[in-house]
Amino acid sequence: MRRALRGPTLSFRGDPFRLPFEEAVHFRPDALIVIEDGVIVAVEDAATALAALPADIEVDHYPDAILSAGFIDAHVHYPQMQMIGAYGDELLAWLEKYTFVAEQDFADAAHASDVAGRFLRELLRAGTTTAAVYCTVHPGSVEAFFTESERFNTRMIAGKVLMDRNAPEALRDTAETGYEQSKALIERWHGRGRQLYCVTPRFAPSSTEAQLEEAGRLWREHPGTYLQTHLCENRGEIDWVRQLFPERSSYLDVYDHAGLTGPCAIFGHAVYMDETDFACCHRTGSALAHCPTSNLFLGSGLFKMVEARRTDRPVHVALGTDLGAGTAFSQLQTMNEAYKVAKLGGTTLTPAQAFWLATRGAAEALHLDDRLGTIEPGKEADIIVLDPKATPLLEFRSAYCRDLSETLSVLMTLGDDRAIRATYVAGERVYDRERKEAFCYAGEGQTQ
Ligand code: GUN
Ligand code: ZN
Repeated sequence: MRRALRGPTLSFRGDPFRLPFEEAVHFRPDALIVIEDGVIVAVEDAATALAALPADIEVDHYPDAILSAGFIDAHVHYPQMQMIGAYGDELLAWLEKYTFVAEQDFADAAHASDVAGRFLRELLRAGTTTAAVYCTVHPGSVEAFFTESERFNTRMIAGKVLMDRNAPEALRDTAETGYEQSKALIERWHGRGRQLYCVTPRFAPSSTEAQLEEAGRLWREHPGTYLQTHLCENRGEIDWVRQLFPERSSYLDVYDHAGLTGPCAIFGHAVYMDETDFACCHRTGSALAHCPTSNLFLGSGLFKMVEARRTDRPVHVALGTDLGAGTAFSQLQTMNEAYKVAKLGGTTLTPAQAFWLATRGAAEALHLDDRLGTIEPGKEADIIVLDPKATPLLEFRSAYCRDLSETLSVLMTLGDDRAIRATYVAGERVYDRERKEAFCYAGEGQTQ
């Protein structure tokens, strides 16, 4: 199956935290992307490439748009979609009052599959094609999520939450059942199509040391799987971890001690990190998910991007929405808030850095950069069509942009799901803003 997309393309040659804009960004004003069996096989200037393209290949042409690699969301909870905007509390009270109530609904498989379907459609509408997703403690919540993801053929990373203490009875497993249920899910889903499994102890306070050890064992026994958890999000949470694990030198040391650091470990938030913590992440290759809309909504604190990305010991960083503590599915809105968090910390996040964090930087952080994150031959064709004229205000403001960097800045400030014209997953258009039936599952895309 071959098809082609034509239009201006935005991709990255390198890291804009290290390189100037012109060297890091790869922009082509009019490119032709040729896709075969879900993979990009050629990216060339349209003027020359079109002449050589066989006549029977369909070309979707987006002259006024910007084609980018699909966005990657490195930290999000699909079961919390029903409680976005639950107001008033900081992290620990918010968990008790809203989160642990909502998550109990996922004992019901029909509910889980309904929410998983809605969640994936919202991600695709926002231009997010890959995400690291927390399900709930119920194995059925994972089954529902991967089943829906498989229908769209999206590359998703997800796992069953592990919690054996400090949570309602109905949301608790044990060190053993958590291990066994997760193992069965890995055997069933990891590497099936584009699905990837993530061992998911919620956070240190809701797992005993025994459960964290078992999580470490499970992760080690299944190379290629991921590990995700929360880290240093809120001062009250950090004090609690200190009380629960007095023998450990820091919050991160709790995870490190249990074998939960390393490549493909993703720590959500990491707001209150000291130099020892950053050095540990650098040394072990662990990644941080910066979740600005969540950190602002819960009043958690300000992530230190410049320190995290210090070029002498860079730590992998990606962006996360952290719904439902986060407030937007859109990575554009997440970049917008990341910019403001950087400003409040006395620094700046450039537009190139922001878009890199949501694409190539995230792919590197998740060790998926051989497959995702850029528009180049050999990469899976997860491609989004950004529309800088999506709203009357965007159209008006974009006309005053003097260069690409300004256009990206305006897109990340004013853009949201409306700025996503279409989303392609493995070469198929699964979302099209202009179509009455905006979504279609993989395999149904070519006929509409
Ligand atoms: N820490 C432990 N669980 C959660 C959660 O569901 N959301 C957030 N933001 N932090 C957490
Ligand atoms: Zn979270």
